[in-house]
Amino acid sequence: MPNDVSNNCYPNSDELGNWTELVWANAEKLWIARIGQDYYYRDNVTNPGLRYSITKYLRYGQVELVDLGSGDAYCTVGLLSEPLIREVDIPFITLIDRSRMQLDIACSRPKLERAVPVISNFLENDWHLNILSRQIPRIFISTFLVQELPVLSPFLRGLRCLMSEKDIAFILTVAPDFSDLLQQRGLILNTSNASCGDDWKWSGLYPIESTTGRFFLPHFQRSESTYEKLFKIYDFHCLQTDYLTVPTNRQSISIFKNTIYGKSILETPSSVIFTLRGGLEK
Ligand SMILES: C[S@@+](CC[C@H](N)C(=O)[O-])C[C@H]1O[C@@H](n2cnc3c(N)ncnc32)[C@H](O)[C@@H]1O
Repeated sequence: MPNDVSNNCYPNSDELGNWTELVWANAEKLWIARIGQDYYYRDNVTNPGLRYSITKYLRYGQVELVDLGSGDAYCTVGLLSEPLIREVDIPFITLIDRSRMQLDIACSRPKLERAVPVISNFLENDWHLNILSRQIPRIFISTFLVQELPVLSPFLRGLRCLMSEKDIAFILTVAPDFSDLLQQRGLILNTSNASCGDDWKWSGLYPIESTTGRFFLPHFQRSESTYEKLFKIYDFHCLQTDYLTVPTNRQSISIFKNTIYGKSILETPSSVIFTLRGGLEK
């Protein structure tokens, strides 16, 4: 890891935003080429979990899907292939990310040929102004984005401005106890404690294991109660909090036993979905 990426001094959120871009510049090729546990995790944990949460609130009718931080949309396509979600009519799909390279890959995937890619940075206050308004209800999803944002206010404020009372958002992130466990085991590199005014507790480089090599992504640690407090400040109702755990079976044991996460990933909830609605009045 080059020194400039692992600098422990984070004076302000602009610099932190630059730091996350630098970490991504180092990781992006490996992320795009990732195979192994990450795909297994999406197919067997994240997408079934999202399907469960989404179909609890929505089964039929027309909706727009807006994926916040879609990346290369491996996850999005998997979600669209989930039974039940296939029965929902989704005439519009919007994919938002700051990476042009990943959005190009996303739009070349089957099921996403007509998706509208939008390049936006969730650290900017006006990111939501790039998104078209629609007459039909929207489902917003965000998978493994929020833990990468050094400040959540611009993201939450923009999302709240976009949401009508018919819309619903599913925010999936790393389960706080799981990342705390990795940090206690020394597996998160270059950890640094928050300064006064930060909305997170510690930050660092979160390891992603792939059969093509290990790499690191930015991570800002927030507790469940911090997330809930922030959702409230921006006038969201958190309808539900669902923790997801890797199922224990022969396949998952063989996939994870030699990874950096080891067996602990089978024993601890490793991600969480917050289901949010906007308050009635803005
Ligand atoms: C860990 S990836 C997750 C991608 C995808 N949602 C998934 O689950 O596979 C995080 C994504 O968030 C994007 N991202 C990180 N910070 C961002 C920011 N400030 N603005 C927009 N996108 C950002 C990255 O480019 C990346 O595509």
